[in-house]
Amino acid sequence: MNILILGGGGREHALAWAVMQNPKCDKLIVAPGNAGIAAIATCAALDILDGAAVVAFAEENSIDFVILGPEAPLAAGIADRLRDAGLLVFGPSREAARLEASKGFTKEICDAAGAPTAAWARFSDAEAAKVYVRETGAPIVVKADGLAAGKGVIIAQTVAEAEAALDEMFGGSFGAAGAEVVIEEFMRGEEASFFVLCDGETVLPVGTAQDHKRVGEGDTGPNTGGMGAYSPAPVMSEDVTRRALDEIVRPTMAEMARRGSPYRGVLFVGLMIENGQPRLVEYNVRFGDPECQVLMMRLGAQALDLMQAVAEGRLAEARVNWAEDHAMTVVLAAKGYPGDYAKGEMIGGLDALPEDSRNMVFHAGTAEHEGRIVSAGGRVLSVTARGDTLSEAAERAYTMVDAIDWPGGFCRRDIGWRALDG
Ligand code: AMP
Ligand code: GLY
Repeated sequence: MNILILGGGGREHALAWAVMQNPKCDKLIVAPGNAGIAAIATCAALDILDGAAVVAFAEENSIDFVILGPEAPLAAGIADRLRDAGLLVFGPSREAARLEASKGFTKEICDAAGAPTAAWARFSDAEAAKVYVRETGAPIVVKADGLAAGKGVIIAQTVAEAEAALDEMFGGSFGAAGAEVVIEEFMRGEEASFFVLCDGETVLPVGTAQDHKRVGEGDTGPNTGGMGAYSPAPVMSEDVTRRALDEIVRPTMAEMARRGSPYRGVLFVGLMIENGQPRLVEYNVRFGDPECQVLMMRLGAQALDLMQAVAEGRLAEARVNWAEDHAMTVVLAAKGYPGDYAKGEMIGGLDALPEDSRNMVFHAGTAEHEGRIVSAGGRVLSVTARGDTLSEAAERAYTMVDAIDWPGGFCRRDIGWRALDG
């Protein structure tokens, strides 16, 4: 099978790594890829938001199966274009991708499906929104409706902060994404990410994880794309998992099918859990990054069979072979991230690190320069390890981190603290 993966971050390196372990994979191309991916697959320069170009590229390269990594091509309908061209595709349609691309749409679906989530209201002008905020009080959550690269959510501790956020969003700082705003009740509890596959009908859980969104230790400082993750997340007990499936995921998938836009792909279910009750924070229509790195490390080669079963509508026959293991990934980012940072810095020590089924350095923002690996983004490496226990996985991951020579990089030293302390 000839496979094309769209994307070029740590998530796509992990997907490529898992896919390559499956003997079914004859040829793998990743577009655009990165320097780490280039070591295991062919990387190709391709505008992954250009449907005609992606279809032509897939045809020219005799691709059988396309896996879409990030949300942008999904929201742009690239999966639909590929399916229309007769290709096998892993990734939801543009209409189904609205579960991530519009927060207001997701809230409507939750209401129709009876799925527990924060109380909410939707506004298209600042004055009405401010009246609502004043009536409701703080803390309160203000969200740009559309895709805002993870920056469109403001947790306002005071009414004044919420009003400032509204001025900013309606003032155009998020472009079209902020033309509508969703205001939500602030939910307390512990967050977890729950990943399920869906082929339009059957729902199959493929793992749980916990991300660390804040840049600083002890979950302080500004939000980032994610500074590290581990799997499984102990807060996702059997009972919480069952409730999340029965009360949130299955009703949502049924509602999408009822509306004529069945969901086919991986659904990233962001949950807030309080006293054993899960409530939906958000859906994403893709694997998380860095959550994908820990999931792929645990799933290995079977990830390809599962994604193929989704694409072919055969998920009812599929099974996940679970190992009693744990995985952790620690993100090495460029100093200054999520603000300004330098690029092009040399990263040493990578060649000496083990690369096997228990230890992998997935590349996120890297490039090759004169035969050396250099930094090329904010989140640069995702140092990932698997162990029989979470502390074993953590020890391996941080041992690798410490062997990497990059003075311009930093990481959080406390990934997994909730699960490790407990
Ligand atoms: P989102 O982009 O919707 O995932 O929001 C980013 C982060 O903001 C989430 O992971 C939560 O940590 C936080 N968040 C979003 N909505 C709420 C809410 N209603 N209550 C509490 N925290 C929230
Ligand atoms: N790590 C969070 C995300 O991928 O959205």
